[in-house]
Amino acid sequence: MKNIIEKAEKPVWVTKPYLPPLEEFQEYLRDIWDSRWLTNNGKYHQEFEKALGEYLGVKHISLFANGTLALVIALQALQITAEVLTTPFSFVATTHALWWNGIKPVFVDIEAETFNLDPNMIEAAITPQTTAILPVHVYGNPCRVEQIKDIADTYGLKVIYDACHAFGVTLNGIPILNYGDLSVMSFHATKVFTTFEGGAIVCHDEAMKRRIDNLKNFGFAGETMVVAPGINAKMNEFQAALGLLQLKYIDQAIEKRKQVAYRYREGLRNIAGISYLEDMPGVKHCYTYFPILIDEGKYGKTRDDVYEELKRHNVFGRRYFYPLISQFPTYRGLESSHPGKMRVAERVTQEVICLPNYTELRLESVDKICQLLAR
Ligand SMILES: Cc1ncc(COP(=O)(O)O)c(C=O)c1O
Repeated sequence: MKNIIEKAEKPVWVTKPYLPPLEEFQEYLRDIWDSRWLTNNGKYHQEFEKALGEYLGVKHISLFANGTLALVIALQALQITAEVLTTPFSFVATTHALWWNGIKPVFVDIEAETFNLDPNMIEAAITPQTTAILPVHVYGNPCRVEQIKDIADTYGLKVIYDACHAFGVTLNGIPILNYGDLSVMSFHATKVFTTFEGGAIVCHDEAMKRRIDNLKNFGFAGETMVVAPGINAKMNEFQAALGLLQLKYIDQAIEKRKQVAYRYREGLRNIAGISYLEDMPGVKHCYTYFPILIDEGKYGKTRDDVYEELKRHNVFGRRYFYPLISQFPTYRGLESSHPGKMRVAERVTQEVICLPNYTELRLESVDKICQLLAR
């Protein structure tokens, strides 16, 4: 990597949250202050839940304080137990949610085309203890939802999608959130759509929504009745107000990230040893991340060399997802974690780095990053 560009004046982080004009948020703040209604299914919570469901094209959605609690509750709501098949190529919260429910994660390899759970490897991992599949739409790229549905139907398994990266993603016009028994979302500050912290569960019937809403509020079903050992996972009014406001700008924010992704593809197209994912046919993407793979044999440097050199130029890519979840001390003792068992995931985790992509990122900065990567 030649030193052909000046070090960026300010650090270029892998992401930067999009926020609406402060004046607009202040109006909501004043209203919340005056009302003294800060949380517990307030006005903005109700409005945002409705507006978000309409925007996403889903019938039943429950808001959460964050995506991790939403994952934990999704498993509780379906009363999942014993063993669950999942991907090692994700953020740790996916597997931690299983651990918090006393469920044994069974890791299954990913496919090279999407970095998502490989449906062709699922059946071999099913045992009499398997109760569900927990796949992730990694980087917002849809899983092979039809194949996964067929397997789940055949073996009587539930499917919970971790859709934390997949805000507004559709497949042949159908919201990706409408697949599976439940889908879980995150509105963390690093996501394309943020409410500071936040999350949601999408389900498909009213009874399930009621159950989820009870569970996120200590199990309360009415003022004096507790129907389950629930938890406190409620979204507050400040988060909900920001969410309402963000809905006004989200299309623009995604469009800008799309421009960034396309610019990277143009700039990196002819660099030997660098590859990236293209848009998938029939998919409306949300461009939450821009991952690239560095093939050391062809590029002449490792992914970690690239990571360090970018850093020296004040450009902070992130090695999402490295190491694999199955390689962390908590999970590496599991049989499914053994080295050599997940060939694709083990390679991808060594080669992947996510380049900066956010709404305010200038296209000239993208060009400079591409020049840095070219030799
Ligand atoms: C795939 C995935 N699952 C779960 C989470 C957890 O969401 P949260 O940070 O909102 O708790 C995240 C990210 O934060 C994620 O990327």
